[in-house]
Parts: sequence; structure tokens; C-alpha cells
Amino acid sequence: MSTSLTIIVVGATGDLARRKLFPALFACFARGHLPADVRFVGLARTALTAEAFRQKLAEGLRCEEIEAGSCSLQAGEFLQRCHYIRCEYEDAAGYTAAAAQLLHAEGGHRANRLIYLAVPPFVFGGAVRAMATSGFLPRGAATPWTRLVIEKPFGRDRASYAELAAALAAVCDEEQLFRIDHYLGKEMVQNLLVLRFANSFFEPVWQRTCISHVHIAWSEKQGVAGRAGYFDQYGILRDVMQNHLMQMLSLIAMEPPASLAADAIRDQKVAVLRAIVPLERDDLVVGQYVAATGAAQRGYLQEEGVPVSSITPTYAAAVVRVATPRWQGVPFLLTAGKGLCTARTEVRIHFRNDATLFDGVTADIPCHAVTNELLIRVQPAEKLALRIISKVPGVGMQLGSTELDLSYREKYPTQRIADAYENLLLDVIRGDRSLFIRSDELAAAWDIFTPALQQLAAQQQPPLPYAIGSCGPAALHALAATHGIFDTAELEGAP
Ligand SMILES: NC(=O)c1ccc[n+]([C@@H]2O[C@H](COP(=O)([O-])OP(=O)(O)OC[C@H]3O[C@@H](n4cnc5c(N)ncnc54)[C@H](OP(=O)(O)O)[C@@H]3O)[C@@H](O)[C@H]2O)c1
Repeated sequence: MSTSLTIIVVGATGDLARRKLFPALFACFARGHLPADVRFVGLARTALTAEAFRQKLAEGLRCEEIEAGSCSLQAGEFLQRCHYIRCEYEDAAGYTAAAAQLLHAEGGHRANRLIYLAVPPFVFGGAVRAMATSGFLPRGAATPWTRLVIEKPFGRDRASYAELAAALAAVCDEEQLFRIDHYLGKEMVQNLLVLRFANSFFEPVWQRTCISHVHIAWSEKQGVAGRAGYFDQYGILRDVMQNHLMQMLSLIAMEPPASLAADAIRDQKVAVLRAIVPLERDDLVVGQYVAATGAAQRGYLQEEGVPVSSITPTYAAAVVRVATPRWQGVPFLLTAGKGLCTARTEVRIHFRNDATLFDGVTADIPCHAVTNELLIRVQPAEKLALRIISKVPGVGMQLGSTELDLSYREKYPTQRIADAYENLLLDVIRGDRSLFIRSDELAAAWDIFTPALQQLAAQQQPPLPYAIGSCGPAALHALAATHGIFDTAELEGAP
């Protein structure tokens, strides 16, 4: 990339900037993925000198994947290109002054500018209005361009999303807007399209007559420590399920796109989201973690910043139905929770197995009881695996269930898997929109969740308690069984 570029992180003193954005920018810089004429500008309200800002950033830069000898040199050069501007987020005059500072840093010639909004969501509307008024965020896609990146949460329901969408549409064109769901930047999530559409043998079996159900699971062992204030406003349905899990679901369930063009892919994602039956309260199990006897970790209500009577769910399970000819009758089970017994994000596609030919043969499990399952593990330890039945080697005929296993660490030991933010930031700079969410996708995803969220809010009932470190509320099994899903071990997070 040869053109001049300025990357501005608004809210640069915050958690996302420190833990994710600047380390990802550093990795892109150190690997030579950014133009030579690049600078990084942190903007926030806190009074900081440029030196103090650089020191804060230096603590977060990771060297482990960059050549040992060159890392400190690279880090020094990166930090020299980091600047800090103090500004109130809704102050148009502040942005006018900031724009003058940017131009000075750019040597008097306006560079392409990427503005990353890393501030709490209630600041979004006022901040973009002030940026637009001051000319800091000029409308239009002309070069030198200005692109705006925002990250979830995109509203709390359909109505608040519509408000946010209107505030953004009032100041910038859709072509300038990059809505990030960082799961779309993860290696395995990007691989979903390749897996499905570069291996055409999957297409005839990727449907209701061959697939019994799909389970998309997200779990963390830790609770909400450190982000309780934010989390309590949103809960797990809004924080994880409505966005990360629905994005994965749409890639698994969509029809083949006509091409790899961003809009061809996003059109199919929207079509499948629109075909999903909106969730009702009865399609859901919601839970909240409580302290376990003898466990060091606190319950949700004891976390700092959580109101003592909070009924915010930290766990949810939902059964989603996709009303298309391909998926009629196939339940998509989504589970997401914090404070659970496992930490994983994965998709399990369960194929029907009606084989009876070997029923009389010795096997560790009867053939018909073994599901041919395709596992797509997003994290940790990326992996693709297909569970099959195979003959156990040796004399005589004995069958066993085994895995065709593509573990990334074994297959690609020297290949570095980039952080999702690195991939996504580079895509914004290239102007590749395939991995970013279009406004109508978000509206469709909110249409699915809003009725159930409203019913939960009207009921005001406490979620089901589950002990921290456990596998979540037992009610999951009843919900799953209603839809013909009985794999207890998997539901409990078995590897
Ligand atoms: N952290 C994550 O891992 C993560 C993950 C996904 C999405 N996100 C989203 O990314 C955005 C930034 O997240 P974050 O965790 O970095 O947020 P944060 O640390 O809470 O806030 C970022 C910065 O915003 C300013 N700020 C904080 N509270 C404010 C308030 N009440 N009014 C005005 N400014 C305030 C602070 O900077 P100054 O006081 O210096 O101005 C703070 O350093 C949010 O929209 C969040 O939902 C974060």
C-alpha cells in the first residue's frame, strides 16, 4: 500500500484500544502490511502527553510473534508514529482543532483516514454528529477517503438500532461505514464459506435430509469481571447471541452466493436471516451464574458494578428455526454463556446416520448411535474434524468411532494465525467490505431477537441460577430434547 494513511482511534484510553486495536495495528505495521507513510492517532478526553500515551501503548504491544531481534526496533518505530489528541467526544470545535493537528502530522497533505470509534455505545450518535459538523468526518467515498468503523453493540433492540442507523446515515454514506463483528475476522469463521463452497460434495448433503441439527456454541470460563457495567446493560443475548452466533449461523445456513463480491455474500446472509422465525420466550433458556461452594469465583450478583437485583442473563440457549426449503425441520441450537465449565466457540453439524448393515458387528458404540458430525472449532485451537465409523485395525471385524482430524496447530505448525482485528483493519484499509455487517443484516438479526427480549423484559423474572464453573442450567437438556437433540455430553461441553 503506497498511499498516506492516518488511523485514528477515538476512545484510545479504553480497554478495546489497549488490548486489541493498538496491538493489532502494531502487528500489521511490524509485518509490513501498512503503507510506509502511516501514523496512528489516539483521541480521548483524558489529559495525557504523547509520551505518556506511548508508554501506555508500549505495555500492550506483543512481541511473541515478531522476530526477536527486530521487535524492539519495530516497537520503537511504531510508537514514534503514535500521537495523542485530547478532545471531548461531542465537541465540534474540538474536532476542528484535532483536524488541524492531523493535517500537520500528515505533512500538510490530507491522507486517507480511518476513524475507529472505540467509545461506549451511548457516545456514538453525539460523537459522529460533532465530527460531521466540524468536517472531521466528511461525507462521501471520494479520495482521500475517510472511513468510519464501529463495533457492537449496535443498539439494544430493533427500535434503538433504527435510531443508531438513522444517526449514522445522517452523517455518512453506507460505503464509508464498516460495522465490525470481530468474529467474522476469525480464521475459522472466514473458512466457513471456503469449506462449504470450495468443496462441492458438501452441497448435496448440506440440507434437511442429511442434517439432523446444528449446534453453535460459545462459552467462557470466566465471569464478567472488569466489564460488568457494560455487560449488565446488555446481557448475553445481545452481547453474543444476536451478533456473533447469528453471523456464524447465517454463513452456515445461507444459499450459495453468485460471486465472492461483498454484496453477493451479504444478500444471501440477509435472505437467510429474514427466513428465521422470530424467537419467543419459550424458545429460550436463560440463566445467571451464582457462586459455587468452595469456588474462588464470585456469583454474578457479587461482581463489582452489578446491581444486587439484576436479572441480566449470563447464559442463554435458543432453538432457531430457518424456514427455507433447505432447512425446514432442522433445529439450530445456539448456546452462549459465561462462568461455564468450558471455554470454546464451535459449530457442530450433525448428519443423520441410518446405516444398519453393520448392526451385528462388534463396535464400541452401535453404528446407528454414532452421528457423523462435522466439528468446526473457532477457538481455542482451531480445528476441523469429521466423526466417522471405521474398522479398528487388526484381525477380525470390529468397528469404532473415530475422527478425521485437521488440527491447525499440527497441520500448519509454522503458520501464524492473525488476530481477527488485524484481518479486519486491513480489510477496512483495502475497502473490502465482505466481512462487515450491512445495515439490513443487523435489522434482520434484531427482528429475530426483539420479541423474546421484550417478553423477557415484561416478565421481569430472575434467570435460572447455575453454579459458576458448571455446564449451565439443566433446563437446556429439556429444551434440546423438545427438538430431538439428546447428546448430553456435547450439551455439557464435552470436547
Ligand atoms: N473491550 C472489548 O473487548 C470490546 C469488545 C467488543 C466491543 N467493544 C465495544 O468497543 C467500544 C469500546 O469498548 P471499551 O471496552 O474500550 O470501552 P471503555 O474502556 O469503557 O471506554 C473507552 C473510552 O471511552 C471513554 N469513556 C468511558 N466512559 C465514558 C463515558 N461515560 N462518557 C464518555 N466517554 C467515556 C474513556 O476515555 P476518556 O475518559 O479518556 O475519554 C474510555 O477510555 C464499546 O462500544 C464496546 O462495546 C469492546
